Parts: sequence; structure tokens; C-alpha cells
Amino acid sequence: MKPKSKILIIAGSDSSGGAGIQADIKTVTALGSYAMTAITAITSQNTTGVKSILSVNAKEILNQIVFTCKDIKPDAIKIGMLHSSEVIKSVITGITKIKVSKIILDPVMVAKGGQRLIDNKAIGLLKKHLVKKVSLITPNIPEAEIFTKTKIKTTSDMINAANLMLSYGAKNVLIKGGHLNNKIVSDILVNKKGIKIFKNKKISTINTHGTGCTLSSAIATYFSCGKTLKKSCELGTKYVNSAIGSNLNYGKGHGPINHLSSVVIKKKFR
Ligand SMILES: Nc1ncnc2c1ncn2[C@@H]1O[C@H](COP(=O)(O)OP(=O)(O)OP(=O)(O)O)[C@@H](O)[C@H]1O
Ligand SMILES: [Mg+2]
Repeated sequence: MKPKSKILIIAGSDSSGGAGIQADIKTVTALGSYAMTAITAITSQNTTGVKSILSVNAKEILNQIVFTCKDIKPDAIKIGMLHSSEVIKSVITGITKIKVSKIILDPVMVAKGGQRLIDNKAIGLLKKHLVKKVSLITPNIPEAEIFTKTKIKTTSDMINAANLMLSYGAKNVLIKGGHLNNKIVSDILVNKKGIKIFKNKKISTINTHGTGCTLSSAIATYFSCGKTLKKSCELGTKYVNSAIGSNLNYGKGHGPINHLSSVVIKKKFR
């Protein structure tokens, strides 16, 4: 097959391959599209935690975005980890220059092991400026709590938080329910038109490293191919659920999910 669309991914590298740019490229590829990247940071990590983070300078990030897209225009952009105000400003300049309307923002703030990945000034800038410029923002529960300064314990708390985020200028908010302790995981999409809850079976495993990166890249891919945002969220959550369900069990901590769960290899390549 030929790629169905082209996606620019702006995010950090995860040396363990389970999250970040690596998870994004795998997702976009496994769902049939072409991935380009602007790397914002290089993390040394494995399934047990983050050892160090090296930031890429803001000008270099802007160069990656603008120079790459001047040549191959993406149909959609997925934005992941942006750790500082300078980086966020650069990304805002970049996306304004390249004029792509379909943008999914995964506001990564905390790694699965609990490490904070972004400073407070950067959070303020995300909330004030970037949120308004994207089609969809996909916080997990701790991130939605930080954004809205509320506590989230139930699905109705998730809806309240999403509505608060709409009041900051977000067009569509998908709050991910992976952190609540229920038998069913509920991801909730809220916009001015209403509320849609995507329910999937909660899988009992510690191997959920990269679920958030994978989900936002999957949504960006479906959205780039012309599906509605609602349908893209529904298909994205199904893909992640199937990738978690394969349970690879790599590493000693929070292991990766199986991005290949959507792929069949042709006979001549086996
Ligand atoms: N144990 C699980 N079983 C089934 N689905 C899950 C599970 N954990 C997370 N998900 C799904 O994975 C997706 C990402 O949600 P999650 O809340 O884990 O995001 P996240 O915390 O941003 O992930 P990450 O730690 O990779 O940043 C959502 O669609 C959520 O419903
Ligand atoms: Mg996340």
C-alpha cells in the first residue's frame, strides 16, 4: 500500500521505544500513513523510569518544523512533549508558518513513573496560547487536574474539567480515563456541541507505557485521512486497546504496548 496521508510529529525521543517519537512513528506507520518528525528533546529512559532529558534548542525545533514542511506538507500534526516556554513559543511560530489546520496536542507533563517533564511557566503558556490553536487536546487525568486546578475522581469530574478547558479556548477536549480505577476505561470527548464517551474494557497490566502518545498519534492519523474527529477518537481508543491487549511484557517496569496489532505482513515478506 501507499501511505494514506502525511503526519508531522513534534515530540521527544524515548530511547526505550515505547512512548514519545518512537511510539508516534510506529503508530502512524502501523495505521498506514507517512511520519515526519521534529524532535524536541532526547530522553534516556527504560521501562523503569527516566534517567536524563536533553533539550533540543528552540531554534533547531523551529528549523525541523518549517524546513521539513516546506517540502512535504503534512495533512495533520501531532504535538507531544514540549518541556519549556521557549520550545512552546517555537512550536507556535512553526505551526503558524506552515498553516496546517488539523492539530492534535497531547500535553505531556508527567511520565508514567511519576517524573514531572515540564515546568510551571510552560504549563501556563500551553493553557494561554497553544490550547486555542489546536483541533483537539488530549490530557490524561493528572494533566487535566493540573490545567483546571480541580480534583478528578469520577466521569462527571472529567466532564467538568473538560468544560473548564473549553472555557480557556479549547475547541475539543478528550480527557483520557486510564488513571481511574474502573472495570471499563472511559475517554470523554467534550466540545460545544456535546459529550461523547468512548468506553473500552480495562486491561489488567502494568504494560501501558506510551498509551497516551499512541492514542494522540492514532487520532491524528485517522483525522488526517478525512474521518471526523469523533470517529478518529473512537477508532484511536480501539487501536490502543488492542495494542495494550497484546501484552508484550518487555522490560522490568511499565512495558510498551504492541503497535503492530494492526499489521499483517504480506506472504512474500514473511
Ligand atoms: N489498563 C488499560 N486498559 C485499557 N485501556 C487503557 C488502559 N490504560 C490506559 N488505557 C487507554 O489508553 C489511552 C491513553 O490513556 P492514559 O490515561 O493511559 O493516557 P496517558 O496517561 O497520557 O498515557 P502515557 O502514560 O503514555 O502518557 C486511553 O484511550 C485509555 O483509555
Ligand atoms: Mg500522556
